[in-house]
Amino acid sequence: MRLLLLNGPNLAALGRRQPGLYGTMTLAEIVEAARAHAEKRGSTLEHFQSNHEGALIDRLEVLDYDAVIVNAGALSHTSYALHDALVACDRPAVEVHISDVRSREEWRHVSVLEPAVRQQVIGRGWQGYLEAINLLLG
Ligand code: DQA
Repeated sequence: MRLLLLNGPNLAALGRRQPGLYGTMTLAEIVEAARAHAEKRGSTLEHFQSNHEGALIDRLEVLDYDAVIVNAGALSHTSYALHDALVACDRPAVEVHISDVRSREEWRHVSVLEPAVRQQVIGRGWQGYLEAINLLLG
């Protein structure tokens, strides 16, 4: 299975961004752990991070993957365009949030991506990415 891992705005700052909420692992370290986990399970993992909604949608439009793991950052709460792109790609997707968005500000409680994804992994720290891989690989 060819997995596409998508990370949205401000996730390149992981490691130094609010470590109490998001931990101290950098995005590069998380991606390496996720790639190693996918490969151990016989899959490949391609990573793409952008702070720009359109760039994330452009990447989804390149249909060179079988399933998607997506942490769209704050776009999760606002982006109907990203929702539509996830539906349009017609691939199974799992949404990840490192922090427990349900116990934070009210505007974080809703993800507009939820109807477009198979499952969500919320508040499990960086290991949530590994859980998402497991959910997709069954
Ligand atoms: C986040 C939660 C979002 O509310 C926030 O805007 C992020 C990160 C998470 O991984 O917990 O950028 O998606």
